[in-house]
Amino acid sequence: MTAQRVGIGIIGGGLMGREIAAAIQRWPALVDHPVRPRLTAVCDINPAALAWFDQIDSVTQTTTDYAELLANPEVDVVYVAVRHDLHEQIYTDVIRAGKDLLAEKPFGIDSAAAAAILRALDEHPESFVRCSSEMPFFPGAQRAIDYVRSGAAGQIIEVRSAFLHSSDLDEHKPINWKRQAKYCGEAGVMNDLGMHAWHVPLRLGWVPDSLTAALQNLVPQRPGPTGEPEVCDTWENATVWGWVEDGTGRFPITVETKRIAPGNKNTWVFEVVGKTGGVRFATSNPKRVEILSVGEVPGVGREQGWTAIEVGSQSVWPTVTGGIFETGFSDAILQMWAVYLAERAGELGDRFGAATPLEAARTHQLYDAALAAGESRTWAPVTR
Ligand SMILES: NC(=O)c1ccc[n+]([C@@H]2O[C@H](COP(=O)([O-])OP(=O)(O)OC[C@H]3O[C@@H](n4cnc5c(N)ncnc54)[C@H](O)[C@@H]3O)[C@@H](O)[C@H]2O)c1
Repeated sequence: MTAQRVGIGIIGGGLMGREIAAAIQRWPALVDHPVRPRLTAVCDINPAALAWFDQIDSVTQTTTDYAELLANPEVDVVYVAVRHDLHEQIYTDVIRAGKDLLAEKPFGIDSAAAAAILRALDEHPESFVRCSSEMPFFPGAQRAIDYVRSGAAGQIIEVRSAFLHSSDLDEHKPINWKRQAKYCGEAGVMNDLGMHAWHVPLRLGWVPDSLTAALQNLVPQRPGPTGEPEVCDTWENATVWGWVEDGTGRFPITVETKRIAPGNKNTWVFEVVGKTGGVRFATSNPKRVEILSVGEVPGVGREQGWTAIEVGSQSVWPTVTGGIFETGFSDAILQMWAVYLAERAGELGDRFGAATPLEAARTHQLYDAALAAGESRTWAPVTR
C-alpha cells in the first residue's frame, strides 16, 4: 500500500505544539497506516519557541506570522495549540484558507466562539475538522468503552468521569494565561480539562438534560511577572452532577475537572456501575481495567466483585509495540493523530474517531449550564 503524503503545519509551538511534533516523528510505530504525515511548517509569535523545531529535518518553514503558514502549499493539515482567546480567529482563518484542522480544546473560549467556528465550517464543509482529546485512546479506555457498548452493565446506576491534577497546588507558582479568565475563559478549569472528562460520556450518548455544579476558586491570586500578586479569576475546580436518560433508564453522572486534586497528575478516571456489571479505568494505572461481575462464583455462591485485567499496549490503531508492554500519554496522542488522519483519508472504518466539532461545541453548552448552576446554586437546563 502506498501511503498518502500529508503536510502538517503547527500554529503554537508551546507545550502541546512540541508534543505533537514529537508524536509525528514516531509515526513508523503505526502498522499499515494509510497516511504518512510530514511536519513541514511551524508558526509561533515567539522566535525562541521556534528554535526547538530546528532539530526536525522535515520542517522547511518557521514563521512568526500564521498567514504565511496558511499560504504554504506544503501544508494540508494545521494543528493549532494556542491560548483559548485566540482559538476563534485562528481556527476560522485555517478553515477559510482551505486547510484541514485538528483544533485544540476547548474549541473556542466560549459557546459563542464555538458557534462561530461551526458557522465557518458550514461555509466550508470541505474542511476536515476535529478537536483534540486523547484520553479515549488509552487501550484501557477503549476496553471500557467496548464494555459499556456491550450492554453488560445492564441498567446503569451511576457514572463518574473525572479529570484531576495538582499542578496548581503550589500557591507560589507564577500566574499564567490558564489562570486568567480573559485568556482561558469564564469556564476556567472546565475549558482546560472538560473535554477530557466529557468526550467519552458524550460519545456514549450521555448528555445530561439538567445539571448542577460546585465551582471553586482556591487560589485567588498568584505572583505576576514582577513578583507582585495578581488576580487569578478562573475556577480551579468544578464538580458537575447531571441526570442522563439512556435506553436503560435515568441515572446520575458526576463529571469532575480539578486543577487542585492533591495526589493526581493528569489522571482521567472513568467509572460506570450498573445492575449486572460495571467497569472502571484510570490513566494512573494505564494497563489496568476493572470489570464488575454480578453472579455465581464457583464455590462461593451468588456474589458481586471486581476483577482486574491488564490490557497491554494496543489501542485503536495497531503498533509495533509489544502487546504486553505499557502505554502512556504520548502513545494516546499518537493514536489520536492516527485516527484523525485515517478518518480524513476515508480509512477509519468503525474505529473510535477523534472528537467532532459538534461534540466540542456541546461541551460549551454544558459549561454554560454549569456556570449558571454554580453561581445560582440551583439546577440549570442544558441547551440543545
Ligand atoms: N490535549 C491536551 O492534553 C492538552 C494539554 C495542554 C494544553 N492543551 C491545549 O492546547 C492549547 C495550547 O496550550 P499549551 O499548554 O500548549 O500552551 P502554551 O502556552 O505552552 O503554548 C502556546 C504557544 O502559542 C504561541 N502563540 C501565542 N499567540 C500566537 C499566535 N498568534 N500565533 C502563533 N503562536 C502563538 C505562544 O508563544 C506559545 O508558544 C490550549 O488550547 C490548551 O487548552 C491541550
